[in-house]
Amino acid sequence: MKNRERPIGIFDSGLGGLTVFKELRALLPGEDLVYFGDTARVPYGTKSPEAVLAFSKEITAYLLEKKIKFLIVACNTASSLALEEIRGLSPVPVLGVIEPGVEAALKAVPAGGRVLVTGTSATVNSRAYSRALAAAGPGIKVAEKACPLFVPLVEEGWCARPAAAIAAREYLAPFRGKADVLILGCTHYPLLKKVIARVMGPRTRIVDSALAAARAALAQLSGLGLLNPARRGSSEFIVSDAPARFSELAYKLLRIRTGKVAVKRF
Ligand code: DGL
Repeated sequence: MKNRERPIGIFDSGLGGLTVFKELRALLPGEDLVYFGDTARVPYGTKSPEAVLAFSKEITAYLLEKKIKFLIVACNTASSLALEEIRGLSPVPVLGVIEPGVEAALKAVPAGGRVLVTGTSATVNSRAYSRALAAAGPGIKVAEKACPLFVPLVEEGWCARPAAAIAAREYLAPFRGKADVLILGCTHYPLLKKVIARVMGPRTRIVDSALAAARAALAQLSGLGLLNPARRGSSEFIVSDAPARFSELAYKLLRIRTGKVAVKRF
């Protein structure tokens, strides 16, 4: 099999990376995509850096066995805590979600403007976004806010319930009118974009790291001559637990028809 005909691997702690998958599927219809959701161990955002690193390495090794040509770490928490190590052990190019999110935010923020990064506790504690924003956009003021209840709300399929709006107000009302750009620094958060935007108000632009990552993947694959010329690619879904629930929520939240979801336990 030619390199460019091999699949792209994508992983997340659970459903969140499906926001990247969906953008990718739309941008790259000819690619074969293999998605892994670590549903047995979600959420990652409240785990220790050591645990997130160990899980990420295990999943990377598993996806590499599937002869992928490119790996997308569709999880901000794993990208914050494990990207360098994953790159170190992967013979294929690895894309995280932080760099694309930062680039998209820098395009949207005015000079000297204010960026609010939202993410899991682990992502915020790692300060990966603050560091990347400070290095690439000096003069920009950055605040970070962990929103730990957002992931369980999404994993429960409660994106449009009052509980989601209450949590968004609780976390973000103090920032209303105080940020030019808000980064959705967790791949689960695009599913809460409406409630988040409502709390922040019309003056804050919302940057979706999932969309930014999909666009970056297209650019990198094209630059590397790795785009698959096929007209229609396949999609494979694997989780570490509860495949029926994953499939149901993928359809309910994102209208993704997964077909049969396989299980791989570590
Ligand atoms: N979707 C993930 C992220 O982007 C992980 C959320 C979690 O498992 O806590 O950070």
